[in-house]
Amino acid sequence: MAGVVCVGAQWGDEGKGKVVDLLTERADVVVRFQGGNNAGHTLVVAGVQTVLHLVPSGVLHEGKTCVIGNGVVVDPEVLLHEIESLQARGLLKDPRRLAVSGQAHVILDVHKRIDRAREQYLPRKIGTTGRGIGPAYEDKVARRGLRMQDMLKAQWPDLLRERIASVNTYLTGMGAPSITGAELEEMIARTRRHAQALRDHVTDTVFLLDQARRAGKNILFEGAQGTFLDVDHGTYPYVTSSNTVAGAACAGAGVGPTAIQRVVAVSKAYTTRVGEGPFPTELHDAMGQRLRETGAEFGATTGRPRRCGWLDLVALRRAVCLSGADALVVTKLDILSGIGPLPVAVAYEVDGKRVTEFPTDTDDVTRARPVYREHPGFDGELRGARTLAELPPNARAYVEMMASELGVKLALVSVGAGRGEEIMLDPVF
Ligand code: IMP
Repeated sequence: MAGVVCVGAQWGDEGKGKVVDLLTERADVVVRFQGGNNAGHTLVVAGVQTVLHLVPSGVLHEGKTCVIGNGVVVDPEVLLHEIESLQARGLLKDPRRLAVSGQAHVILDVHKRIDRAREQYLPRKIGTTGRGIGPAYEDKVARRGLRMQDMLKAQWPDLLRERIASVNTYLTGMGAPSITGAELEEMIARTRRHAQALRDHVTDTVFLLDQARRAGKNILFEGAQGTFLDVDHGTYPYVTSSNTVAGAACAGAGVGPTAIQRVVAVSKAYTTRVGEGPFPTELHDAMGQRLRETGAEFGATTGRPRRCGWLDLVALRRAVCLSGADALVVTKLDILSGIGPLPVAVAYEVDGKRVTEFPTDTDDVTRARPVYREHPGFDGELRGARTLAELPPNARAYVEMMASELGVKLALVSVGAGRGEEIMLDPVF
């Protein structure tokens, strides 16, 4: 048995969906442990594109168990919609293949409303996905949240009514409309229906994972977002509301650290970010535009254009350290083809001082000017490469440079969006 965690090493959108899909071949169970449907994992299998927001990316493999752990915040409507569209394609026929923790907190309509109202009415914008993630986690930590298992209870309407009554004060205080009368009754009826439809999936996932572990199964923990969106370690406050580093897999899935043997960090061959917040290597010029267009850098969840920039080794070193990563996956190497030379940030200059550690103060990250080292560019079609030797020499040198700078083993290099368009060096399990 082995436990492997796969996390994003940047600001999310590193291509974890494809990586998890590949690693799932050797896994028995795939677990989401944090975040919610702010995530958007795009997978392309046999030319068919699937975008998943909540169901673990391992779902495309028949026979694997997918788990939504207690650390995830679940929008029942989105989950049902995802289940139904997978089933319409002949996938996920057996409901036991998708287990949802009864302890996972529920994202209610009010959470979405608060999230959007804040972005609209308050002066400081985070650029959230508007999916209610932050407000749902706030309620969890404030010990007034509602969990998936509560939805199944007879007293659910009362629980919901009580919850909404207190939220209404907050909404009206912000100038946003409150939820009352027919709208509230409709919400109760709708969530009741959701609960019935999801009943077979809601279970004790801690017990399920413990049984899998004892039976010697391979468990893959699928991270969402990325290291610098981590609520503690990211560019606070321009972060998401959960811990995205590998250690979060333990609390968010309900396993001990001994259940994890390896950690895979996923990085693009360049850097992207959506939403607000500092991004030292961001490109505001035609090159940034080129990366966005060639790399199809538009959010899988909100469709927003992603901000694009050069590779940042200062940030990546921190990401490897924070998650204890021992394996590196590089994605979208093909997008850099035809560009050269390739600047790579090896340090920052903050107020005239050279720093090589990612600053802990977001204000310093905002003022950081990248110190670049140029790497020779490469040309040609990379999609057909299945070994490092089949890459143009400078492309190979680029990914090997990344692994050696970060002190981790290169596990996989993705050279195209589709399953099969990659160089597999270490299957990790
Ligand atoms: P929230 O998670 O919706 O609260 O958004 C907080 C910040 O995290 C915003 O900058 C979002 O754009 C960003 N974010 C959340 N989820 C993802 C993701 O899956 N990929 C990339 N950025 C994300």
